[in-house]
Amino acid sequence: MTQSIKEILKRTDYGAVVNVKGWVRTRRGNKNVSFVAINDGSCVHNIQVVIDNERFGEEFLKPITTGSCISVIGKIAESLGKGQSVEIQAETVEIYGTADPLTYPLQKKGHTLEFLREIAHLRPRTNTFGAIFRLRHNMAMAIHTFFHERGFFYFHTPLITGSDCEGAGQMFQVTTLNLYDLKKSPNGQIDYSNDFFGKQTSLTVSGQLEGELAAMALGKIYTFGPTFRAENSNTPRHLAEFWMIEPEMAFYEIADNMQLAQEFIQYCIRWALEKCSDDLEFLCERHDNELIDRLKSVVENDFVRLPYTQGVEILQDAVAKGQKFDFPVTWGIDLQSEHERYLVEQHFEKPVILTDYPKEIKSFYMKQNDDGKTVRAMDVLFPKIGEIIGGSQREEDYEKLKQRAEEMHVPEKDIWWYMDTRRYGTAPHSGFGLGFERLLLFVTGMQNIRDVIPFPRTPNTADF
Ligand code: 4AD
Ligand code: MG
Repeated sequence: MTQSIKEILKRTDYGAVVNVKGWVRTRRGNKNVSFVAINDGSCVHNIQVVIDNERFGEEFLKPITTGSCISVIGKIAESLGKGQSVEIQAETVEIYGTADPLTYPLQKKGHTLEFLREIAHLRPRTNTFGAIFRLRHNMAMAIHTFFHERGFFYFHTPLITGSDCEGAGQMFQVTTLNLYDLKKSPNGQIDYSNDFFGKQTSLTVSGQLEGELAAMALGKIYTFGPTFRAENSNTPRHLAEFWMIEPEMAFYEIADNMQLAQEFIQYCIRWALEKCSDDLEFLCERHDNELIDRLKSVVENDFVRLPYTQGVEILQDAVAKGQKFDFPVTWGIDLQSEHERYLVEQHFEKPVILTDYPKEIKSFYMKQNDDGKTVRAMDVLFPKIGEIIGGSQREEDYEKLKQRAEEMHVPEKDIWWYMDTRRYGTAPHSGFGLGFERLLLFVTGMQNIRDVIPFPRTPNTADF
């Protein structure tokens, strides 16, 4: 049986025989002895294997180079070397796979994150990406645990859809029509009746609409799945394929929704601090030395709750006092990332939940306020990230929702089933969407969203 390096490093029963299998990170030594550092992905630390050169022979040991994969059986011994407690004295060594040093791209020297993106098939073997992907796993576990413990049900919403939830028209079409021989009607329309689903379909931009149907039956649900947006924004915060967590709760008003969002994010970050300290310490040391302090500060402080209108006043005030923004600030604008970050990083120095946005810049389903101008939206804005969560209380009134859908050109034929929830047993309800990779940006301290998902999809990139 193979033991994981993570487990072996904790042991003190020197002399016990173990079997480790992993990838060689480095090999050094002298004429008599080789020190081989192996990593098996179980943790950021390597284990040192000590090999007696004479016993195994130069020829046999030669292919043990960076990137090769070996299995070692040997005794656990107390290590005298700096920075490690335990090493293994090799008794048998098997080489599973070699890695020609002339072509293996991951050599010992530090590589840039940009270069590593080009070899996304190998970058999980670096310390940085090992740490990131272990954190990614841990955040997924934290999310499921958080909701499960609070009586939410994990509900699966479809990825292929006939409706545009956000109404932003940024959808990837799904079709089996022959694009080389596309039949069009005399007025230039494509006849989708011959398509696979007999109508035009796309990849979903959000599971919310179906999530609301579930909340109107199961009470509290959440979705957690891939989401697709064909927005052509080549920024460090946008992916064409990202993962989103969308809780939806019957009988929650906006204030309950905000409280849940805060507790949810704090729970995930606390999980990372408690269960992933080795990986966080590594990332802190290597990439961002304020990371752990930043995580702690978010766990310890309440998020600010601030209506959009007041946010705009603060920004205008700042401009009057000499603050420069690229985009002008007027009531009604969709705040730019520079504005969001000013509020969070300079003005309040903690996360801000901005509420009650102008209805024109938000989706049709948000509950309308009595002022006739704003809706009960809530965006959670984070330091270094900007928007991490978007959500709202939902419009539960059939007539008001119908009117807003019409005004925003959401076709009734696409959402008749959604409208039905307002016709049959409607109830106040709320929900939000957390961008999983945006959370990971915050938790890992990485700067580019392409570095927190294994195989990023962005404009002009769909490799691996
Ligand atoms: O604000 P958004 O568009 O909200 C919705 O989709 C709602 N249906 C959510 C709901 O109320 N159930 O997206 C939610 C979050 C954003 O705050 C952001 O964190 C993330 O999803 N997000 C993206 N992450 C990466 N790449 C993109 N292109 C993203 N677009 C949104
Ligand atoms: Mg949003």
